[in-house]
Amino acid sequence: MELAREGMLILLVSRERKQRLIQLKAGKEIHTSHGIIRHDDLIGQPLGREVRTHLGYPFLVVEPSTAELVRLIKRNTQIMFPKDVSYVLTRLNLFAGKRVIEAGTGSGGLTLALARQVMPTGRVYSYEANPQAQKLAAANLEQTGLLPYVELKLRDIAAGFDETDVDALFLDLRHPWEYLPQVQQALKPGGFFGAIVPTTNQVSALVDALQRQGCFAFIEVEELLLRPYKAVPARLRPMDRMVAHTGYLVFARHIAGGLDPTWAWMDQRKKGPFFEEEDEDFAPGFEQEADEE
Ligand SMILES: C[S@@+](CC[C@H](N)C(=O)[O-])C[C@H]1O[C@@H](n2cnc3c(N)ncnc32)[C@H](O)[C@@H]1O
Repeated sequence: MELAREGMLILLVSRERKQRLIQLKAGKEIHTSHGIIRHDDLIGQPLGREVRTHLGYPFLVVEPSTAELVRLIKRNTQIMFPKDVSYVLTRLNLFAGKRVIEAGTGSGGLTLALARQVMPTGRVYSYEANPQAQKLAAANLEQTGLLPYVELKLRDIAAGFDETDVDALFLDLRHPWEYLPQVQQALKPGGFFGAIVPTTNQVSALVDALQRQGCFAFIEVEELLLRPYKAVPARLRPMDRMVAHTGYLVFARHIAGGLDPTWAWMDQRKKGPFFEEEDEDFAPGFEQEADEE
């Protein structure tokens, strides 16, 4: 069983469902409106349990999930929502050992999820033009123990990326279509490109630029809608409010040497994304070798 260690981030949850991220430090105290909890009473103890303040008020102390970390870190920019972050991790085919570029770093929400995914052998190269944003992201990554897996770079990406042959590249900034030549330089053949933009006119500009760049196939535009439910067995129903819109996700693959203009986007007009269950050409499972006669 994993025990709480000094320096570890824990999540403290009150009965009112208020959540606080706390980095454990010997000798320190957590002051709440219901009394005090000493860090020393948590260090060396298991997580996933109830603890009480000196006034006897109960809190839950648990390990924070990646989704909670993304949501609860300090921020000075718009951060990506966990629903979009987690989908991006699979769409960019990220796992331990992969090398991925992102820009801009912002508050480091996506950065920390990327780092958790590619560590311990992979690397995140994160570019940011604003020094204040980078400073906060560095502090967030330091607190979450993920800084060793990230190279933070202070630069406008118009000047290009230092890395080449990276496995994936993700852009979360206002005009992603302006940087496709730089993206092409950095991505390996077959590498995964992704971007998030909040408005449909930005999607149009990006898709148009991806097509014109001539080396991006499988251009797809998607949006994720997540509807939370009230988990009350006798009155199970959706929450009254939901986050209706976060952003549009655009994905593509880099094809070395460019591709014939009749490819990729001509297909996209007829077919939707890759979930084509009804498609007669669609055969789930791995390709089987034909039996030798
Ligand atoms: C929406 S925030 C990124 C949020 C981040 N993905 C997160 O989850 O915390 C966009 C960031 O891109 C940065 N940015 C905008 N244009 C840039 C450029 N050309 N080069 C580098 N960074 C840029 C901005 O300074 C801003 O911090």
